[in-house]
Amino acid sequence: MNQSTNWILVIPLFLLLVFSVENCTDSNAQSNINGSAEIDIQRKVKDLMSKLTLEDKVGEMTQLSIDVISKGSPFNLSEPHTLDTEKLKKVIVDLRVGSIMNVGGHAYDREHWEQIITKVQKMAMEEKESGIPVLYGIDAIHGANYTHSSVLFPQQIGMAATWNTDLVRKIGEITAYETRASGIPWNFSPILDLGRDPRWPRLWETFGEDVYLASQMGKSLIEGYQGDSISGKRKVAACMKHFLGYSCTVSGKDRTQAWIPERQLQEYFVPTFQTAIYAGAKTVMINSGEMNGIPVHCNPKILKDLLRDQMGFKGLAVTDWEDVAYLASRHKVAKNNKDAIRLAINAGIDMAMVPVDTRFPILLKELVEEGLVPLSRINEAVERILTLKFELGLFENPYFNYDDYEEFGSFENIEIAYQAALESQTLLKNDNKTLPLSKNKKVLVTGLTSNSITALNGGWSRTWQGAEEKYHTDGKPTILGAIESKIGKENVIYESEKDLRRVKAAATKADVAIVCIGEMPYAEKSGDIDDLDLTKNHIDLVKTVAITGTPVIIVLAEGRPRIFREAEPLAKAVLMSYLPGNEGGRAVADILFGDYNPNGKLSITYPRYSNSLLPYDHKHTDRFNRDYSWKGYNPQWGFGHGLSYTTFKYSDLKLNPEILTDLEPITISIVVTNTGNRDGKEVVQLYVSDKVASITPPVKRLRGFKKIDLKIGESKTVVFNIDADDIAFVGIENQWITEPGVFGIQIKDLRSNFEYKTKN
Ligand code: BGC
Repeated sequence: MNQSTNWILVIPLFLLLVFSVENCTDSNAQSNINGSAEIDIQRKVKDLMSKLTLEDKVGEMTQLSIDVISKGSPFNLSEPHTLDTEKLKKVIVDLRVGSIMNVGGHAYDREHWEQIITKVQKMAMEEKESGIPVLYGIDAIHGANYTHSSVLFPQQIGMAATWNTDLVRKIGEITAYETRASGIPWNFSPILDLGRDPRWPRLWETFGEDVYLASQMGKSLIEGYQGDSISGKRKVAACMKHFLGYSCTVSGKDRTQAWIPERQLQEYFVPTFQTAIYAGAKTVMINSGEMNGIPVHCNPKILKDLLRDQMGFKGLAVTDWEDVAYLASRHKVAKNNKDAIRLAINAGIDMAMVPVDTRFPILLKELVEEGLVPLSRINEAVERILTLKFELGLFENPYFNYDDYEEFGSFENIEIAYQAALESQTLLKNDNKTLPLSKNKKVLVTGLTSNSITALNGGWSRTWQGAEEKYHTDGKPTILGAIESKIGKENVIYESEKDLRRVKAAATKADVAIVCIGEMPYAEKSGDIDDLDLTKNHIDLVKTVAITGTPVIIVLAEGRPRIFREAEPLAKAVLMSYLPGNEGGRAVADILFGDYNPNGKLSITYPRYSNSLLPYDHKHTDRFNRDYSWKGYNPQWGFGHGLSYTTFKYSDLKLNPEILTDLEPITISIVVTNTGNRDGKEVVQLYVSDKVASITPPVKRLRGFKKIDLKIGESKTVVFNIDADDIAFVGIENQWITEPGVFGIQIKDLRSNFEYKTKN
């Protein structure tokens, strides 16, 4: 392909890279079944549409929070939580609201979810004239986190650090099952925003900084959520969010302005969503922020031209929380709420997460009657909503019975969360083989995150902010608890980080100190920070222990890589735990004491300085240093880094053929051998770099990875295929192109080159 190639042809080809044929679930037979089911649903939607009034339709486009139908006032509900029948009737029967969301304050048990869903659906199907069931949506972002005793997995940043797509698909399956086991068929997950700015408070909700890794992970999670059909009792509709450009703000703070040039948008921010669309994602949530001066909720160029025309998305587009009203109250692009509704619906919004102001359907109806919103736009939106409701099987099975879900919270499901927590742990430093520790040592455990289950789970865990311990599942060990169980309480000294004098005294009595630092839970705006450096109290704690001479092991439980370069040299070993979920305590203890060989790899770059926050796929000039050397890129640890207790030798890098054409891919093979004295897993990472290009090329880009198991002494040959789409980039005309030339291959420290020649 050359620069004149039409990008519409190139994009799908490029994305075969992230949507590998081998993993494509559609067999011919399956697509025939899906095809006839689709026609049947289209017929049902058409039939139902012909019977609906304008009131029914604008009601369908309205999503309200459960607060609005609960006893008490919104945001201050009475406890224990109960639905208010009068409010419910007003919302469902009078306003004909099509969707309810969220949770009133904190997680419920499944009996309570059953009562809620039954009451809501009975009202919709038996008392509302249209009889259309309600679509309930929730943020089950690392397991069914708003249902008591559900399994809680690592947050997305940790899922990505496993580099294990099969495991992430399995997480999706269990999350879907446990969410449906709570009667809820729609999950506002996954986040497909790229985590390229470590300051951003939602970094831990992302799959990290790399477009290829994040695309693969997103695809796997969606496959797990949705399977081949979302109609069954085990599956939910996924919601890719937040479209588009949410994670890359100028200030690094939540819901502030982003300026993203078209080329960067296409190359870095579109592909995760495009891959998800190819994987069949049913719904999308829109970015709350503004991009290039325009709030995305009222930008038809993003919501129509890009999302629908370029990317081919056919599903339902829902707003984020209150974002239509914010067009007036925050963004100041609309005169008032009604004007904001006009802008958003005309731009392409199908459903508004209002979520507490019941005037939305009334104002939208007025706008249609006044000719300010075309009926065709309303019909298009409602058809998408009804299609989803039919696809989910809500008309046939609006209710659920929690007794039908015997696998909820099962041992097997917990084991998957445990495995994911283990595989996410990333050993960043291990001087002189300090780890693993022997189990007969006297250990000091201290630090803010050492004895807290909320610190291991982060936000969106039983409550939105995730900070209230009392709603968490009993008996889940913290890091301290897990260490005590492993080596015996008598071998553990615990000291609170608040009393440095006592910590120092305890450190002198211990053989080794495990200092757990990082962040306590937060979600969204409340996680904004003015300084990426880890707060001083954490650094002082490390210094206090280190001064005693007792070896320090740092465990980082944190949602983003907080800078701690002052403390880092004082530690003999550093383990990045991210937000590993309910089984995270056990996983950390297993790794520290050698019952598990770590194999996680960083899904982000770990910065050393707050003024050097570049991702790994930066440009060559970013490396140019003030001393005129090329040593200007110097993070604490690079993307993809992670140590093991064994050693792996890479050899025999081979390319066949050494010339790439549009007709034939190159096969790249490499032999990896476990040369150490423990069995282990290794993530083999393939990077490609363009030597010369018309747009300055990044130093390298991840273009393949495979996670393999190697017994002591075992060797495996790992094979990758590279084709022309793998070397494509967004060119001068903002279209995907390829250019002939020489390309570098890098796997671990082995390097080679190939040449790309076009047909002509
Ligand atoms: C968040 C979304 C979330 C929604 C519903 C918003 O504040 O930005 O990610 O899905 O709330 O809870």
